[in-house]
Amino acid sequence: EKKLASFKDGPAPPRQGRKLRSAQWFNNENNPGMTALYIERYLNYGMTREELMSGKPVIGIAQSGSDIAPCNRHHLELAKRVREGIRSAGGIAFEFPTHPIQESSRRPTACLDRNLAYLGLVEILYAYPLDGVVLLTGCDKTTPAALMAAATVNIPAICLNVGPMLNGYMKDELAGSGMVVWKGRELYAAGKINREEFIDYVSRGAPSVGHCNTMGTASTMNALAETLGMALPGSAAIPAPYRERGQCAYETGERIVEMVHADRKPSDIMTREAFENAIITNTAIGGSTNAPIHINAMAKHIGVELSLDDWDQLGFHFPLLLNMQPAGEFLAEEYFRAGGLPAIMAELLEAGKLRPRALTCNGKTVEENVRGQQSWNRKIIRPYNEPLMADAGFVHLRGTLFNSAIMKTCVISPAFRQKFLENPNDPNAFEGMVVVFDGPEDYHSRLDDPATPIDDTSILVMRGAGPLGYPGAAEVVNMHPPARLLRQGVNSLPCIGDGRQSGTSGSPSILNASPEAAAGGNLAILRDGDRIRVDLTKRQVDIFLAPEEIERRHAILHAHGGYSVPENQTPWQEIFRRETDQLSEGMVLRDAVKYQRVAQR
Ligand code: FES
Ligand code: MG
Repeated sequence: EKKLASFKDGPAPPRQGRKLRSAQWFNNENNPGMTALYIERYLNYGMTREELMSGKPVIGIAQSGSDIAPCNRHHLELAKRVREGIRSAGGIAFEFPTHPIQESSRRPTACLDRNLAYLGLVEILYAYPLDGVVLLTGCDKTTPAALMAAATVNIPAICLNVGPMLNGYMKDELAGSGMVVWKGRELYAAGKINREEFIDYVSRGAPSVGHCNTMGTASTMNALAETLGMALPGSAAIPAPYRERGQCAYETGERIVEMVHADRKPSDIMTREAFENAIITNTAIGGSTNAPIHINAMAKHIGVELSLDDWDQLGFHFPLLLNMQPAGEFLAEEYFRAGGLPAIMAELLEAGKLRPRALTCNGKTVEENVRGQQSWNRKIIRPYNEPLMADAGFVHLRGTLFNSAIMKTCVISPAFRQKFLENPNDPNAFEGMVVVFDGPEDYHSRLDDPATPIDDTSILVMRGAGPLGYPGAAEVVNMHPPARLLRQGVNSLPCIGDGRQSGTSGSPSILNASPEAAAGGNLAILRDGDRIRVDLTKRQVDIFLAPEEIERRHAILHAHGGYSVPENQTPWQEIFRRETDQLSEGMVLRDAVKYQRVAQR
């Protein structure tokens, strides 16, 4: 048989002089026994020995979509086009599943799985015969988990976003995913809609396959993957069902094969300059408050120094250019049609604000990729000099309440600004009495209790919601006022907390506070009625309590066994709590960051 004859002739020589990593499995001259064993089982579904021993790049497709992960489920289709791209460029595709992370249904919170998916992917990328990998990303934590793993292992890697959903509508009004949840909850709490209407209202936020169509954490992280250079230019914003999405999948498959031949690795791309571009671009797009957590985690895993002070110092003074919910009005389809991320980066580049020479996955620099790109709709993507808002970045706060917390300034509404920040005697600062909630259950049970002392000058505090308190850190700091205040038109109060908040939230909360209450931070000793002062100019948040009183309360708390947190429900929750750092440190697994470039070890 012809097939058998060529089988006996042995494999074709490698295409390039350089032996690829997969040859350690499939072409190991020193250990034919192991090579035979490694090859054997891949033959059982129809791979041939010639293919496996050809020396062609073996490319992983890290499949993050499934029925249980609907945001990324369209990747089940897109992966076929990725495969075709890989094959047409002369590579061999191995698709494999990653641990699912579905933001909207994983209990207690999807962020608990970012580090778990990271660990799983590191082991796969390190331990199997892969020369490069296409990371299928989308829903919030799927992108950072994938990029953190690519950073640790450091084999050539490229992201393919699943793409945002089409625009949702309620009657004739845009209904952005996430946004409809917050708005629906307010309407429901105020008694303006019933339960059925509420569920129908929220469902408008999911009109097609794809991830959230607002600039929430999913759109943000995929935009920043592209900014970093880890995804093809122009790829992040393409809506999931558009034909360009499938075409992009094909091109991503082709590109990764070229990246393997060129040995272009994450460490060549994810440099300090690239991270600076990510911080600056995040301001221009009005990106999620989860971005600093995830971007700082990636930086730690690739060994680049990056801190929350960098976010404030490099990012705060940039303008908001993209008019997309929650900071603006529109959704992903307008964002894409107006030119997408390259049009926004071109504005920053022309203004001299990007690090132009940062290398990207296609072998070109950021400048080469985005120069000359333009906005097709100035209502959606604004010129650098006519932004939606100047100084639109995050502020990094510290003081006697915590060592670190951030606030997203571009979502401060005019009403909030006027009420809390435009005091001529004390501009950009406010004080108030706190009402303290121990986790989301406590908030929901006490919010509308008349005994809970909330008025329109209160500051709502959420604690017990950090990485240890609520394993993974809950997205609960954006709290709406009680129904009686909502009915009076008080739609928002200042919120502070040691948890996170959804990237789709338009609340200007002070969040990600570290150390959290469960790690011994001063949030733990706060009581209803204590006064707090927030000064955004000085980047300070302070408690009006004498140091002795703070000490005394800590001693009392300590005598009662410390700040109490719910018991672990699963083994991973216990391991996560033992090994994980605070939000200010990217919530990374402390012992994982010393493992760098493991494929080169
Ligand atoms: Fe998956 Fe928003 S819930 S992207
Ligand atoms: Mg979220």
